[in-house]
This record gives sequence, structure tokens and C-alpha cells, in this order.
Amino acid sequence: MRFGHFDDSAREYVITTPRTPYPWINYLGSESFFGLISHMGGGYCFYRDARLRRLTRYRYNSVPNEQGGRFFYIHENGEYWTPTFAPVKTELDSFECRHGLGYTRITGSRKGIEAELLYLVPRGFNAEVHQVTLRNKSNTPRTLKLFSFVEFCLWNAHDDATNLQRNLSTGEVEVVGSTIYHKTEYRERRNHFAFYHVNAPVAGFDTDRESFIGLYNHLGEPEVVQRGVPKNTVAHGWAPIGSHCLEVTLAPGAERKFVFLLGYVENPPAEKWSKPGVIEKRRATAMIEQFSKPEQVESALQTLRQHWTELLGRYSVKSPDEKLNRMVNIWNPYQCVVTFHMSRSASYFETGIGRGMGFRDSNQDLLGFVHLLPELARQRIIDIASTQFPDGSAYHQYQPLTKRGNNDIGSGFNDDPLWLILGVAAYIKETGDYAILDESVPFDNDENNRAPLMEHLTRSFEHVLNNIGPHGLPLIGRADWNDCLNLNCFSETPDESYQTTGNRVGRTAESVFIAGMFCHIGPEYAALCERRGDADRAQRARREIAKMEKIVLEHGWDGDWFLRAYDFFGNKVGSKECEDGKIFIEPQGYCVMAGIGKESGHAARALDAVKERLDTPYGIVLVNPAYTRYQVELGEISSYPPGYKENAGIFCHNNPWIMIAETVLRRPERAFEYYKKITPAYIEDISEVHKMEPYVYSQMIAGKDAVKPGEAKNSWLTRTAAWNFVAVSQHLLGVRPHYDGLVVDPCLPAEVPQFSITRWCRGTTYVINVKNSGKGGAPKLVVDGKPVAGNLVPYGKPGATIQVECSV
Ligand code: GLC
Ligand code: GLC
Repeated sequence: MRFGHFDDSAREYVITTPRTPYPWINYLGSESFFGLISHMGGGYCFYRDARLRRLTRYRYNSVPNEQGGRFFYIHENGEYWTPTFAPVKTELDSFECRHGLGYTRITGSRKGIEAELLYLVPRGFNAEVHQVTLRNKSNTPRTLKLFSFVEFCLWNAHDDATNLQRNLSTGEVEVVGSTIYHKTEYRERRNHFAFYHVNAPVAGFDTDRESFIGLYNHLGEPEVVQRGVPKNTVAHGWAPIGSHCLEVTLAPGAERKFVFLLGYVENPPAEKWSKPGVIEKRRATAMIEQFSKPEQVESALQTLRQHWTELLGRYSVKSPDEKLNRMVNIWNPYQCVVTFHMSRSASYFETGIGRGMGFRDSNQDLLGFVHLLPELARQRIIDIASTQFPDGSAYHQYQPLTKRGNNDIGSGFNDDPLWLILGVAAYIKETGDYAILDESVPFDNDENNRAPLMEHLTRSFEHVLNNIGPHGLPLIGRADWNDCLNLNCFSETPDESYQTTGNRVGRTAESVFIAGMFCHIGPEYAALCERRGDADRAQRARREIAKMEKIVLEHGWDGDWFLRAYDFFGNKVGSKECEDGKIFIEPQGYCVMAGIGKESGHAARALDAVKERLDTPYGIVLVNPAYTRYQVELGEISSYPPGYKENAGIFCHNNPWIMIAETVLRRPERAFEYYKKITPAYIEDISEVHKMEPYVYSQMIAGKDAVKPGEAKNSWLTRTAAWNFVAVSQHLLGVRPHYDGLVVDPCLPAEVPQFSITRWCRGTTYVINVKNSGKGGAPKLVVDGKPVAGNLVPYGKPGATIQVECSV
């Protein structure tokens, strides 16, 4: 069942009923100011940091689900409603929400009045614009009252929700004309404030929540809206809000537009006050002037669209499969960019107060947006590498504002260092910017201990070799990719963290997965060494990789698939011999991506075992059978109910490893089948089962052992976006940047018989037309009329357009 449809020409998803199976959200903002917005106008906004600079209040995990947003109430003759349906929930005559790239438009109508709400954050601007268009579609003149509503958060979202003994006494506002200023704590250390403005004279306002809503009322029945009369309250403590009241008379057929601005301002310390106790408002006034007219909003929307047109033009496909086109051309790269901005901070599952930036997460996120935002990718790489320790290990997380490693979590996740090599290699292949390797980058942010980035990569590589276990496989440490496989944890106490507790730290538990990574990512390190003229190091690296490959086949092979690990006691994890958890997805994907056992047939057997044991109608589960009881020597994975999260959920973001692995074996049918199973556009028809937004990936879909297989959770902020983009764009469609040229190597089944790709890379445009037999053979290329051997199109001159004909 669907709850809307794609509008590809507008690059929008159109939701046609408010009753979606979960709030379906979108993101506003693309630089410093961001908002989350649901199809009912719920959500919140913040400046840079979702925890420390939150402008509006939102209550997570609340009842009803949506508690907080930017709402507009319409009052007419004692009746009132909200065009977003919630929070009043009066039945509407029509409802539509269009989530576009960086903006959302919600239109609701009732009894001849149509209200269209356009929400966006203009480029280069620290405010949300809410444009309200009211239309009288009836035959009689109508007089309405329009009430706006936002509730202010007292900046630090965690403190705001917990430190009530203090916070209920600190709230302060100023009201001047049509502008409400929220200035809590501005008096002392803070020099920032928020404002909520409308470009029309107001009939009144409210800034005190209790007066506006009523102590025992909810957001759907505010007292002021019920009565239709504002109280002009000025908040002192308790909960400051911003609400304007506008009186609007509309002749039949008439329409009026109002521009509301919800903005953030920082004043330099010397310019804090205009008079004692009165905030200096110059900067706010200047912002207000920029958006005082609807034409200015329209032009900001066009600029935003243009921005996305430029970005998305860097990789696009035309094929007979419209779902493939819309994912590759619009939604998948969009999600990658959002994930880059948010990391794991703010979504409807991440509360914006918890996790920092993950070392491994951020390196992999980069794979999905490096072609769109290479300059930002460069900075991100330097930030990440600065949190690496001198021995090559790394802080597992760092804080986005301070960019310092997070001591609470510390280090010891032994896959982390290798992801840095992968991220840097992807960046250099995309840009050709080898100079980044010479950048001097600190270890652990210590200015007195710096080394060129290349040296950081060496330490990453060596970290694996310095931490080898009894079978010659890499030690796992606290966990590898799978945060919940904790082989040194041995936790029996409920309040301990599985990730940071090491009750029996030894040098025995080993990871076949890290071995696979070493063989897949290590060659990138060798290639970089070579390109910098260090042939000896390159050679040594290749020898070590070859050695590791042998060890994997000797000690990491279970007979029909790759083992997952050896536990603390040297027992096998992910083996036929195990009672539960006989086979895991991660090593099958990563070892085959590395080409281990490709010639000998091990690789094909491993992937056949995946098909047989892990594949389901909704995607590939992480492990099978699910763990049915807690196993202290395995950790968190066995703490989840069967079928969820790491315990045999469909953890979407390693499904693409299997897709890529299938292309390594040139088996296009299976690769594409796996792609379609988890890719949102293809499962739009089962939205009632899936529940999450049909335009973005979720981290997890419940697996076959779950009570509700196919039900997704944790949409938006997941490396699933990056890895699926890599899988589909680089391996299925098969166009990927290499060091000296663009590889064109499609691997798709015959159901996509021809397609063309436009790829912008290093200033050159490549137009690639593919005739696809679907047999998965080696491609034949003709570049600008001349046949070339192999699958590499050498990089052309910036500004040029290169024509590539490919048959495969
Ligand atoms: C979460 C974490 C990621 C980890 C994965 C599997 O997505 O963000 O770092 O690899 O879970 O445990
Ligand atoms: C929990 C989650 C896992 C995540 C980890 C680290 O274990 O299940 O997905 O990676 O926390 O935050």
C-alpha cells in the first residue's frame, strides 16, 4: 500500500494522506542552519549543533508521536483547524505534503480555505522561512485569524529536557512589532538569540506557553486559538514560545501570502546590547529585510533548486527503469548529503543529543558524497585523521563542534583505522588531489605531534599488522564493523556499556571481517605508496596482503562460507559448529569484495550460502540463525530479540557489500535482485509493512526471525545511503573513478537492456551509452570513436565532453 507517489520531474515525494505509518520527514538547510520537518510540520531546527544550539523544542518518543513543530492554526467563527492535519486533527478536505530537496510544501484545505505552507532554509542563511499562502476558494468573503506557533528550546537540548529546577526560571523574550525575540541566557555568557518574525502587522501575539495553550490542554486545543483572541503575553521563565496572530480578510478567489522567519543571530560581545538589557537587533533586522517579500522567497527556492541541479548533474542515469533513475539521480545522493551534514546526530531516531561523529561512519559516509562536495570531504578527512592516535588506532567518535575525540567511548575498535585509508583513496580517485597526503595532520589533536596524512595511513595499515592474534588474523578489539559483537566484553551487569566494557581483555579474539577489509582496502594503501614513489613499502604491503589472504582461506574458512571470528577462548563464531549464529553476512561480503577465493571457488560458495541462508524477501539478514539466548562471550548481539538490529535484522548497510561481491563474480542477476529488495523506490508498494519513508533507506529492516519481518526502523542517518550509492553507481551501473581514469564496467541483468550515464569528474563530462546483454561479461569500450582495451577511460581535459560507447 502506498501513501503517496514520486514526482520525479519536480524531484519531490508527494504524500497524499496525513496518516502515514510513521512521521515521514525531510531536512531543511545545507550549510549551518538545519531543520527536521515531518509531513505534518513537526520537528525542530538548530544552528550547527543539534544538542547545543537548538532553537525549538521537540519531545522525542512522545504521545502522540509528534510533539513540537512549526504549526499554523486557522480560526474562523469559533472553529479552528491546522492545514498540517496535526496537531488539531480536524478532518481536511484535501491534504498534500511535498518533500523536495531541502524544502517541504504542505497544503491543506477545509471549507473553501486552502493554506499552503512552504518551509525552507535559504542558501547562506541562518533561518527557516515559513511562507503561508491563504486562498479563499469559496464564493463568500471570509475573515480568518491565523496563529503561528513555535516553542523555544533553551539552547542545550539535553539540559532543556532535564534541568527543570533551573530552566523554568530562565526564559526571556522581547517583542517588538511583528518580531518575537527569544533571548534566554543572553544576559550572561551567550551572545546568540533567536527571532520569529512575520512580514505583516499583527493583531496580537503570545510568548508564554501556558497562557497560549492552557495548563491542562494539548497542542491540538490551544486556549488562545479556541477563543480566537491573542493575550499579548510576555514570558518570564516557564516555557517561552512564539505565536503571532494575524487577521486576514479574503474576497472570493483572493489569496494572501505571509512570510515568517525563524532565525538565529550571533552578536559580537561588544555589540550585544542597544540599551542595558535590550538586545542589539541590527543583524536580525538585516535578515528580515532579506525576506520581507514573497518574491524573495521564490528566488531563494530557485537558488536552492539550482544548487541541487548542479550537484545532481555530476552523476545521472537514463534507463528504462524509472525506479532506478529516481534513486540514482535524486534520492540516494540526497540522503548521502543529508547524512554527511547530520552524521548520526539528528533524525526521528537520533535525538540530537547523543552520538558524536563516528570514525568509521564518517569515513564511509564520505564514499557517498565525495563526488558532490569534494572540498568538504577534504576537510572531513583532516578532521577525522586528527583524532587518530600515534599507534594508528583511533577515537571511535569525535565531537562535531570541538572536533576532539570522545573520551567516554575511547578507542579499541580495530576496524576503525582501515576506513581512513578507504576514505582517503576515494577522495584522491575522485579529485586527483594527491597533495592531501602531504598535509600535516596532528595525532589526537596534539599540535606538537603532527605528521603528513600519508604517515597516518601507514599507521592505520601497520595497526592491523601490530595486532595479530593466534591464527594470524587481526585482533578484533572492542568490536569491528559490528558494534554488537563484543568478544572481550563479558558483561553481566545491566548498566555497563557493551562497547566500552572489557572485562577480559586478551589478545585472542580475532576478526575474519577485519582480515577481509585488510585485503580489500590494503591494496589502496599499496597503490598510494607506489604513486608516491615508495615501491618498497608498496611491495611489502602487497606481500602482507597476500599472506593475509592465505590465512583467511586457511583459518577463516568454515567449509561453505567464511567464518566470522574466533572468540576470546579461540572458539569459532559464525560456523556450522555453532548452535545459533552459524553464518554472518559481513565476512562473506568483505572477503569476496577483496577477491579472496575468487579463483578457487570459495567466493562463489560463500555467496551461494548467503543466498541460501541469509536472503529473505525483504533483504539479507546479518546472521542466521538468530541468537536465542544471551551469550556472554559474544556480547550485545545476543542481547537483542531475534530478527532485530545486529541479531539477524536486515542491517541494510552491509547488503550492498553482497551486491558488490556478486559483481566481483560477475553475477548481475543476483546483484540487482538484492539491490531492488532494500531500495526504497522498489518497495514503495509495501509502505504499510516497511513503515519508514519510501524515498530514503533505513538502517534496519526486521529480519525473518522477527515478529514483523519487513518492518524498518532508523531511517535517514545510516551508511546504507553511501554504500548503496557506491554499489549501484560504481558497480551495477559500473562507473567509478580510478587513479588514472574512469572505470566503465557495468554489471546489470538484461532487464535493463540499455542505459546512459552522465558523469562529471575532475572537470570533464563523460557521456556513457551502454548496451547491456546482461551476461556479465567484460565490457568493450569505444571512446570518442576509438576502441580502447580494458575498462578504463583515461581522464580528459577539464571542460571537455567525452563520448563513451560501451557494450557488455
Ligand atoms: C551502527 C553504527 C555503526 C556500526 C553498525 C553495526 O550503524 O553507527 O558504526 O558499524 O551499527 O553495528
Ligand atoms: C547499539 C546499536 C548499534 C550501534 C551501537 C553503538 O549497540 O544497536 O547499532 O552501532 O549501539 O552506538
